[in-house]
Amino acid sequence: MGICFSNASDNQSPCTTGHFSSAGMSQTTSNTTSSTVSNVSGNSQFSGASGSVDEVYPNGQILPHSSLRMFSFTELKAATRNFRNDTVLGEGGFGKVYKGWLDERASAKSGSGTVIAVKKLNSESLQGLEEWQSEVNFLGRFSHPNLVKLLGYCWEDKELLLVYEFMQKGSLENHLFGRGSAAQPLPWNVRLKIVIGAARGLAFLHASEKQVIYRDFKASNILLDGSYNAKISDFGLAKLGPSASQSHVTTRVVGTHGYAAPEYVATGHLYVKSDVYGFGVVLVEMLTGLRALDTNRPSHQHNLVEWIKPHLSDRRKLKDKMDSRLEGKYPSRAAVQIAQLALSCLGPEPKTRPSMKEVVEKLEHIEAANERPKEPRVSSRHQTAYRYGQQPLHHRSPLHPRHDVNRAYPLPRRAY
Ligand SMILES: Nc1ncnc2c1ncn2[C@@H]1O[C@H](COP(=O)(O)OP(=O)(O)OP(=O)(O)O)[C@@H](O)[C@H]1O
Ligand SMILES: [Mg+2]
Repeated sequence: MGICFSNASDNQSPCTTGHFSSAGMSQTTSNTTSSTVSNVSGNSQFSGASGSVDEVYPNGQILPHSSLRMFSFTELKAATRNFRNDTVLGEGGFGKVYKGWLDERASAKSGSGTVIAVKKLNSESLQGLEEWQSEVNFLGRFSHPNLVKLLGYCWEDKELLLVYEFMQKGSLENHLFGRGSAAQPLPWNVRLKIVIGAARGLAFLHASEKQVIYRDFKASNILLDGSYNAKISDFGLAKLGPSASQSHVTTRVVGTHGYAAPEYVATGHLYVKSDVYGFGVVLVEMLTGLRALDTNRPSHQHNLVEWIKPHLSDRRKLKDKMDSRLEGKYPSRAAVQIAQLALSCLGPEPKTRPSMKEVVEKLEHIEAANERPKEPRVSSRHQTAYRYGQQPLHHRSPLHPRHDVNRAYPLPRRAY
């Protein structure tokens, strides 16, 4: 499969380079049997135990070629029971995500076989081929314990689908802001484990030979496996970083309100450290249990960072804003340290923000020094109304009635 990582002068996402058709990744037109596009190992991703790659390369690797499996639409239809509503795991800007069962021998009905997640393009989506190609080109070649595994894809006529490893615990977004039994409150040590994992994933992207700017870091793109290991998903907006002589790349402004770095929204200048800003926003969400953007809050509180930032440097104010679902069970020293780290990630100037490598080190240090959580003394209830109130999990923006405020789409510029 053609990937343009090696093209140092190319600052475009690989999706715009037209490498697909020339490199053996042609569109399927019939119900072909599954095959791998290219074979690093000579096998499909399914035959190599996914965990073993992580064990051999705990720090991740960029594969010389992807070894994605090409699925037929018929196969994925069968795997998801004809894309039945009761297999829907969630829905984002690209389309719905379905749970599927992949085992040639077992019938989908029995619910056995390899469990997969199938993302299917919605024909009315603002996203499409470009994002699909970006996902295939970037994610198809990455192998890291903190990046979700893309197993394969399907492209038949107008149907564009992506097939991932199934992440049992869903997204961090669901756990922090969701309601019901599926969204159990996350204890402090699990939150810390999740942000450390996500930070490692981002650090891996930034450390690659040709840096990759992820561009859409947010709670909904952090997926959790059965043991709450965090894996970053969704590379539809990922972009190759600047060449050595440049500090940034200039691009169309896309991303998600509340998470996108101010310099990027204002100027279209995208820095590697623009991702660090998004990471800082997720840290604040993890501390407070509040969404990056929530138009159901009073207007001066819509944007979480603008509202909470002055509270992060004050120990007492921070305590008042901590997530009430933690029930006070967190080491206050660690919370203060995370708040300070978040503040540095949210610095207005990209160059003053820490690198993701530094962020990982700091978080690991905080985790290592973690004292035993104290029993609660006072339970703060300040934000209960938002969490348990009427706000739907995916709030629709009046400006973009078909798209959630927390979904990725072109962002209007604003003063910086
Ligand atoms: N591999 C997976 N395993 C299990 N659940 C998944 C997987 N991928 C996605 N999901 C579920 O589907 C939901 C929608 O994911 P999707 O990435 O399409 O949208 P989003 O992240 O909410 O928005 P955006 O389109 O802006 O990325 C996720 O929040 C998650 O609950
Ligand atoms: Mg997503």
